[in-house]
Amino acid sequence: MPRIKYITHDGKEYDVEAAPGVSLMEAATSHNVPGIDGDCGGALACGTCHVYIAPSWAAKAGAPAGEAEGEMLRLLDNYQENSRLCCQIPVSAALDGLVVNLPRGQH
Ligand code: FES
Repeated sequence: MPRIKYITHDGKEYDVEAAPGVSLMEAATSHNVPGIDGDCGGALACGTCHVYIAPSWAAKAGAPAGEAEGEMLRLLDNYQENSRLCCQIPVSAALDGLVVNLPRGQH
């Protein structure tokens, strides 16, 4: 299964084996990664799955964000160019080795 590394804003690392087809949000919440809550279940309504994706991974993670995702992202604290809502990113073999960074303030 693809391995995903989540890194909190204070540098704690969580390695997760994620099933293809689930979202990066679901992979994180099912492995108790702190800082990704996924309160709305992936409905683009909460922003509690905000992450940063390195530019080198952006295309594989389906960048750019869709219009609705982009609108939600721009409302969030700590929004950056490489911000994504990870409920909108499906895990696939192409994401094996992906590193996901969490914004300050999510823990
Ligand atoms: S889980 Fe709510 S916006 Fe992603």
